[in-house]
Amino acid sequence: MINTLKIEFAQAYGAEGQPVQYFFSPGRVNLIGEHIDYNGGYVFPAALTLGIYGAIRLRQDNLIVLKSLNAMPVVTVDLNKPIENQSADGWANYPKGVIKYLLDSGYSLKGCDILFLGNLPDGTGLSSSAALLVLTAFMLRTVNSDTAIDKVELAKFAQKVENQFIGVNCGIMDQFAVAMGQKDCAILLDCETLQYKYIPFALKEYSLVIMNTNKKRELSESKYNERRNECEQALAVIRRYTPAANLCQATLANVEDYLTDDILRRRARHIVSENIRVQTAVKLLEQGDINGFAQLMTASHMSLKDDYEVSGQELDAMVDSAHRASGCIGARMTGAGFGGCAIALVQTDKLEEFTSVVAAEYKTSTGRTAAVYVAGIANGVSLLKG
Ligand code: GLA
Repeated sequence: MINTLKIEFAQAYGAEGQPVQYFFSPGRVNLIGEHIDYNGGYVFPAALTLGIYGAIRLRQDNLIVLKSLNAMPVVTVDLNKPIENQSADGWANYPKGVIKYLLDSGYSLKGCDILFLGNLPDGTGLSSSAALLVLTAFMLRTVNSDTAIDKVELAKFAQKVENQFIGVNCGIMDQFAVAMGQKDCAILLDCETLQYKYIPFALKEYSLVIMNTNKKRELSESKYNERRNECEQALAVIRRYTPAANLCQATLANVEDYLTDDILRRRARHIVSENIRVQTAVKLLEQGDINGFAQLMTASHMSLKDDYEVSGQELDAMVDSAHRASGCIGARMTGAGFGGCAIALVQTDKLEEFTSVVAAEYKTSTGRTAAVYVAGIANGVSLLKG
């Protein structure tokens, strides 16, 4: 990838000028703990070896040129003019937002040429937007100053750009995983305090598989906001009786005793039970009980399907196909839901058979073509040796 990026950069911007610097920002999967980050509980994501590469070189003027080998248009930002979100700028609104918010936070930026190249399928719930935001912020900070970059602050900054400039009301999980990932480890993150712990994701004779439904997450934004709202309503009711700081601090008994509305009760039951599942799953993993961990992944999917209602026909079909194929010990949707990707833990020596059975079964039940890859777990955003 980096060699392609080098050649393409010289073609796009010319071979002359200051040195070019190269960077990588991973996508992420969440292993368990879905829709928990905005409810203040525990999530367990990992950064992927799939992601977005970026190349950057300073210019002599006040322009930042943004090009991507994956998307159009090319957008030029004049650092002396107001920066606004414009729908015609498409993908480039993400880096534009980063530029604006860095300037607004008092960083001085020089003009530069930037080229991106990703191998992360976008719109599939693997956090391509968080990867792009974190990458742009890390690149611009690195070329503009020598001061150390606090990656937790970087994640919070990227979330702010996504919330305020892009207008997506996401939690902190994706940006945190992309910025703070560690090779071969998953991150146990407390979303209330941002305390975290790296847990080796040692799978013995199993592999982590990503299964792309190839169904874009169409409804995801409106339904995502609806779920956030339902969680807030559920918390408000529970707080009439008990002083929970967030929904994850409520107990299952609180949920059953105080929530009379069926929808709110089911939403809250997912959140409280999922937060417990994360903590149990991580303990099992630490004890080397991969089967126990995988069973909780499956339980998580059932709760997201039945109580939280964020999976959908394609994700359910994919998870069902995975369970029917031999070698699978657990499977679930990952990310916001309503399309995108599911993940599974699969016996490594059965991978080939698993992939062909899943692809065939999924095609029969949905008419769609699945993409199945074995996931590698990578470090968070980083400067690459050119
Ligand atoms: C999306 C959001 C995250 C998180 C997940 C669901 O990926 O960006 O903040 O809420 O959905 O777990």
